[in-house]
Amino acid sequence: MPQIIHGDNLPAMRAMPDGCVHLVYADPPFNTGHAQRRRRMRTVRDDSAERIGFGGRRYREELLQTAVQFLDQYDDILEFLEPRLIEAYRLLSPTGSLFFHIDYREVHYCKVLLDSIFGRECFQNEIIWAYDYGARPGRKWPAKHDTILWYTKSPKDWTFHRAASDRIPYMAPGLVGKEKAARGKLPTDVWWHTIVSPTGKEKTGYPTQKPLGILERIVNVHTSKGETVLDMFAGSGTAAEAAARNGRDFIAIDRSKEAIAVMQTRLAEWIAKAS
Ligand SMILES: C[S@@+](CC[C@H](N)C(=O)[O-])C[C@H]1O[C@@H](n2cnc3c(N)ncnc32)[C@H](O)[C@@H]1O
Repeated sequence: MPQIIHGDNLPAMRAMPDGCVHLVYADPPFNTGHAQRRRRMRTVRDDSAERIGFGGRRYREELLQTAVQFLDQYDDILEFLEPRLIEAYRLLSPTGSLFFHIDYREVHYCKVLLDSIFGRECFQNEIIWAYDYGARPGRKWPAKHDTILWYTKSPKDWTFHRAASDRIPYMAPGLVGKEKAARGKLPTDVWWHTIVSPTGKEKTGYPTQKPLGILERIVNVHTSKGETVLDMFAGSGTAAEAAARNGRDFIAIDRSKEAIAVMQTRLAEWIAKAS
């Protein structure tokens, strides 16, 4: 049964039995030191704006409202994460995987922590999610990637449905045959993927929402149909939607009531189907 749990993920996870999930996705606050805000925008006609839409008309984005959703600041992020990642390890099935999503500010400390919990031999990949959107500072290279660390419960045996991955275009399609170029290739550990478009259908308005395409790739390759995906820091419920769309079960935990409200709307269709 799909579940949305409102509350701190530590007691919620401690109440679950050993080995009950096949994939854990963890996208904790990145410790940016900022309050994360929900921004509501609207598109208005403006003949002097740069964005060109249907029929050559010009539009600009107008900010309607911002509201604080959660405070992204910890005195000691590792002290916060450690007991939660120990629970994630306990909850994983023998062939299960953890995908830990973080950015350049904390990834090196988190990698050392995860090595100590899972064992270095269970570290499988450092996935770079690369995008290109937003401000570009003038005096250093713009930071336009997140890091996703993949760990397995077992050092030898894990789920990896390679053929279930989506395929991506070749960088130089002219160098491969027509048939290969049309089929595309499997991704490497660098995943180019756009962010959730601020004006697109996928957007829920919840800050730090991750793209469904990234989560569907993880769910499809690293779990089988009918298995359970746990999202420990669920936010808008992207991992849960990826699971539900692809015939997997989900448990989504968040301590913010705004996140729970967003998920209840976003996941209503699948919760209704399952009950
Ligand atoms: C980076 S956001 C997750 C975004 C999500 N992956 C998405 O696609 O929408 C982190 C979330 O963790 C939640 N959170 C922080 N500490 C938590 C805790 N101890 N227990 C449960 N949720 C927590 C916050 O409320 C926030 O929604």
